[in-house]
Amino acid sequence: MMARTDRHCRYFLRQITARTLLYSEMVTADAVVHGDRTRLLAFDEAEHPLGLQLGGAEPDALARAAEIGQAFGYDEINLNIGCPSPRVRAGRFGAALMETPDLVADCARAMIRAVGVPVTVKCRIGIDGRGAYEDLRSFVETVAAAGVRSFAVHARIAVLDGLSPAENREVPPLRYDAVYRLKQELPALEVVINGGVRSLDEADAHLDRVDGAMIGRAAYADPAMLRGVDRRFFGAQAGPLPSRHDVARAMLPYVRDKCADGVPLHCIARHMLGLFAGRPGGRAWRRALGGTSHRPGAGAEVIEEALTLVPEPERTPADAPPYRAGGRATGRERSSLPPAPARESPSIGPPAR
Ligand SMILES: Cc1cc2nc3c(=O)[nH]c(=O)nc-3n(C[C@H](O)[C@H](O)[C@H](O)COP(=O)(O)O)c2cc1C
Repeated sequence: MMARTDRHCRYFLRQITARTLLYSEMVTADAVVHGDRTRLLAFDEAEHPLGLQLGGAEPDALARAAEIGQAFGYDEINLNIGCPSPRVRAGRFGAALMETPDLVADCARAMIRAVGVPVTVKCRIGIDGRGAYEDLRSFVETVAAAGVRSFAVHARIAVLDGLSPAENREVPPLRYDAVYRLKQELPALEVVINGGVRSLDEADAHLDRVDGAMIGRAAYADPAMLRGVDRRFFGAQAGPLPSRHDVARAMLPYVRDKCADGVPLHCIARHMLGLFAGRPGGRAWRRALGGTSHRPGAGAEVIEEALTLVPEPERTPADAPPYRAGGRATGRERSSLPPAPARESPSIGPPAR
């Protein structure tokens, strides 16, 4: 998510979940090819597994950008066909590309030739004027014929005329049935559902019908919702979940390092404001962190002080539901996971992508 999932945000989320696949903000292929690559692409090894999302509509530039992303160590290259912003549209990429499946297929083919890591696509269920299920299926089939095996589908159309990007994430109704049907009719493809998923229970329910669930706004607003993911969906060892206080404390060495390198504290702390969302002391935490992290010279002590405003609960034993039978991971995680239990359903898969 632009202006959200930068490297500091992802490092923070990694203190909460080790297995969830995280994505970069969208970066245009031209920026990667011609811009300051280190600033745009560098990340901490701890952020794996990590996808780089590219925007663009020009096969050669996307192929080159994908190659560069692979060299930086990204585990997946994702092509954005879902962004409705006017700026992106003016560049004739993002959601507008749903009108030109052949061009998307050309872009994907060039990217797949250029890299060894998976090339995936994030799209909408449609755009205004092409909102029928048949249009979605035909788009996906065309792009899959170029070799894309995994599609994350935001279950709303994008209205390219008349709605702002924010409205385009709220106004068009969610149509999960279209995404379910896509998986049912094209079972060989990995289909990840996105849009309006607010809890791990909701993600779990989707996993009966699709291979994964991608969570955006809810996870940013309340990142601690991801605490149970590793155990519940990836079969990670049982044990106490990291407390929110543990998560904040685990950030301190990183904050000290980055601040010493000249990164302003607020660039990191702004992603941590929601850590205690809905908890006693959550507002005081947000106010303290938000209010003082902009001050010149602010550092890790601001986080330590803000933590004293939040009551620390007694440690509780495992409080997440047991590992979801049949759960599995994709891509990079697959090799590092213990063998999954016998699958009861063919359609259960990686969550919280
Ligand atoms: C601030 C913001 C920035 C976003 N930037 C991107 C982006 O760079 N690439 C992308 O594919 N989607 C982007 N999105 C859309 C989300 O990835 C997601 O598709 C959408 O918010 C619906 O999912 P959600 O209900 O779980 O948030 C952005 C959303 C928000 C709120």
